[in-house]
Amino acid sequence: MRLSVIGCGYLGAVHAAAMASIGHEVVGIDVDERKVAALSKGEAPFFEPGLQEILTEGIASGRLSFTTDMSAAAGAKVHFVGVGTPQQAGGYAADLTYVDAAIDGLVPHLAPGDIVAGKSTVPVGTAERLAPRVSAAGATLVWNPEFLREGWAVQDTVDPDRLVAGVPSEDGAPTAEGATAADVLREVYHPSVAKGTPFIVTDYATAELVKVSANAFLATKISFINAMAEIAEVTGADVTTLADAIGHDARIGRRFLGAGIGFGGGCLPKDIRAFSARAEELGRGESVAFLREIDAINLRRRDRAVDLVSTALGGALFKKNITVLGAAFKPHSDDIRDSPALDVAVRLHGLGAWVTITDPAAIENARRIHPQLNYVEDRDEALREADAVIVVTEWDEYRRQLTPEHAASLTRGRIVIDGRNCLDAAAWRAAGWTYHGMGRP
Ligand code: UDX
Repeated sequence: MRLSVIGCGYLGAVHAAAMASIGHEVVGIDVDERKVAALSKGEAPFFEPGLQEILTEGIASGRLSFTTDMSAAAGAKVHFVGVGTPQQAGGYAADLTYVDAAIDGLVPHLAPGDIVAGKSTVPVGTAERLAPRVSAAGATLVWNPEFLREGWAVQDTVDPDRLVAGVPSEDGAPTAEGATAADVLREVYHPSVAKGTPFIVTDYATAELVKVSANAFLATKISFINAMAEIAEVTGADVTTLADAIGHDARIGRRFLGAGIGFGGGCLPKDIRAFSARAEELGRGESVAFLREIDAINLRRRDRAVDLVSTALGGALFKKNITVLGAAFKPHSDDIRDSPALDVAVRLHGLGAWVTITDPAAIENARRIHPQLNYVEDRDEALREADAVIVVTEWDEYRRQLTPEHAASLTRGRIVIDGRNCLDAAAWRAAGWTYHGMGRP
């Protein structure tokens, strides 16, 4: 099928390449000329495992192309909209400027019978508002949220755990137009549909809410365990053992119970804030008032990590060499948007420490935003002469491949702060280190 993808960021670029990889003919459209030039040459504009391969393959096959020209969307049957919905500059609500601009730019190139599939994360009510503009061109708007995780984006797009289509509906059931649009989407995602991946057809509001409530739930799970870490810290309990123990209950589950410096990235923080803002607009602010607390717990963990470093170094950071292992908001990504790791590094720097920071993928992005830190590519070089080491992104390079003995041969001090509870505490202690975890004795 011929498809267009408007917006070629983390979501759109991966979606375009993944759709080409399952056999569709895809044009990716973005206003950023540099991004389009890189993608057209088959260069992934960000680090995402597997993306490079499917980009190269898609371009070589002739099925995948990129352009800044919106008119290239003409002739496609389905037009995916995957532009950003960042937090508004002056508030918590989502900024929908790019979504509106994408729809307005696309409408003149639509043909009757086309499908416009919104993938961006939007406040509930957005699809209802946009639908008349799409219908005026004889096309149908559907909302098809994306649940991809950075670092697993290609896999999550090609083989998602569920597909959701919000379609025009009446009295709780899809209209004839909505049912047809859902069938077209089933065809787009044919390999997943054929293998039995749940395909949920619903109305616009439910589809929009599925996305934000999934992210709100995940954020809540992380902040829940981080709240337990706070209690563990004043009682001498160990939050990782607690997480293991409660995680054995299948109703709870161990995943996303990783206590540490908390969540960041381009989705969870902004999505829970936008959800709160939207609920308030709807007169239901109290229903998700807990999300403010989730946000607050999350941000407190960054303070806690900074306090741990400071206390471990005797209360003063002035002229202390601190090596920060990690800058990305999570491993397998070069994304530093709202990265707790980078935030901790910047705060330590602000308190007078000499901060050296390293990361396998995110140094260039981090340097652009925070040029005041000392960036070192090589992990061992970064560790040299450190008075204290803090692990803030759980890359394998730090959690598995770095032994405490090897680290000790490079550093000056023997203080390690495990901001992700990802190190073997006993092994580090046995090698002579003073180990501090998050919510661990
Ligand atoms: C998230 C959702 O998982 C995904 O479904 C949605 O489509 C987009 O938002 P992503 O932002 O890629 O994906 O990251 P995710 O893997 O959810 O991690 C978010 C943050 O939570 C990271 O900073 C991570 O380090 C942190 N985290 C995760 C924890 O602190 N503890 C955990 O147990 C899990």
